[in-house]
Amino acid sequence: MFHEIGGEMAERMKYLEEIDRIDRSNSTPRLKRLRQIPPETGRFIALMVSLCPDGEFVEIGTSAGYSTMWLSLAAKLRNIKIKTYEILPEKISIAKETFRLARIENYVDLIEGDFLYKGNSLNNISFCFLDAEKEIYEGCFDIIYPRLIKGGILVSDNALNHYSEIKPMIDKAQNIPDLDCLTIPIGKGEFVCRKS
Ligand SMILES: C[S@@+](CC[C@H](N)C(=O)[O-])C[C@H]1O[C@@H](n2cnc3c(N)ncnc32)[C@H](O)[C@@H]1O
Repeated sequence: MFHEIGGEMAERMKYLEEIDRIDRSNSTPRLKRLRQIPPETGRFIALMVSLCPDGEFVEIGTSAGYSTMWLSLAAKLRNIKIKTYEILPEKISIAKETFRLARIENYVDLIEGDFLYKGNSLNNISFCFLDAEKEIYEGCFDIIYPRLIKGGILVSDNALNHYSEIKPMIDKAQNIPDLDCLTIPIGKGEFVCRKS
């Protein structure tokens, strides 16, 4: 997968990485920042998607589509589509540009709106990458968990750098007998749950 990151996608990744770097070093307002995952987290979530059972593949929090590009590598490998949810119109238009330029429109369904409403129509979730506002992690978990199939995986970002904010979700997940959970120290900390 990773050896197939071609010209257009590599170029868009570099472009967004540079914007994200600048965002973090100046006073760009929070809602305007891309707040992307680092490349090592991208590799990790792509590997997870490549290993999950058949079902629905979901991302909550598209931003400019950087993490979605990583997920699309596995989507292409498996010939599936990633459903990615984004609430902010400005981010939606940057993400559309990303998917067009990186030539991954066939592997991505961009769903515009609030996951907390739109996510209720999902079924049989095989994989979910949760990377939205920390206050809604528990609400997202309550939608994802009952819809997660056997062998399905939920990966939640920011488990180390925003641990205290997402602790209610982490505690809830760790107390569910059919979930095996572990925080992996990649990037900002990935909290991984697998349903058995
Ligand atoms: C941390 S950024 C995502 C970064 C992206 N995953 C990446 O690494 O390239 C979080 C995004 O979640 C979006 N978001 C926040 N709440 C949401 C909701 N309820 N439904 C859908 N998107 C939401 C924000 O607008 C923001 O663009």
